[in-house]
Amino acid sequence: MAAEEAVGIRFEINGEPWEGTVPPTEVLLDFLRGALGLIGTKRGCEWMSCGVCTVLLDGLPVSSCGMLAADVDGAEVRTVESLSAGGELTPLQAAFVERVGSQCGYCTPGQLMTATALLETGEPLTPERVKDWMQTNLCRCGSYVGILEAIEAAAARSSAGGWTRARPGSA
Ligand code: FES
Ligand code: FES
Repeated sequence: MAAEEAVGIRFEINGEPWEGTVPPTEVLLDFLRGALGLIGTKRGCEWMSCGVCTVLLDGLPVSSCGMLAADVDGAEVRTVESLSAGGELTPLQAAFVERVGSQCGYCTPGQLMTATALLETGEPLTPERVKDWMQTNLCRCGSYVGILEAIEAAAARSSAGGWTRARPGSA
């Protein structure tokens, strides 16, 4: 059987342009960790159920185990490595440390990316909204209280996306 032809793609990864070819059936998670060496993105269920492999695709969280690398052509992808690119923790990362938002840390890259996308919406956040948004990301260590507190702390410090205790729908 003839080898499948590589697919040419051009996209932006963590703010840098990338152009080259990828195997047509390679999933994004494998491409990021393999060809690009971005091993901050972790491998969990490989079934789009745990959120461990979450990256941002054009600003929105996606499971990198559930899509092909070829499908990022023309898109902007961000991995956890982009957060501290300048050598400093983002307010969200610092809050994860302060509030003990991780224990083993395996789910943390995915949690950070999902939460980053939420904070970047700039919308006012409530505990209910945060819980709802973060339900795509599981933590086997059960660090949920710390994770939610960290997002709350980061939102409160952020100029965009102020924190409010108001319930959704209450003006
Ligand atoms: S490894 Fe992708 S969602 Fe679990
Ligand atoms: S901190 Fe261990 S899985 Fe979440």
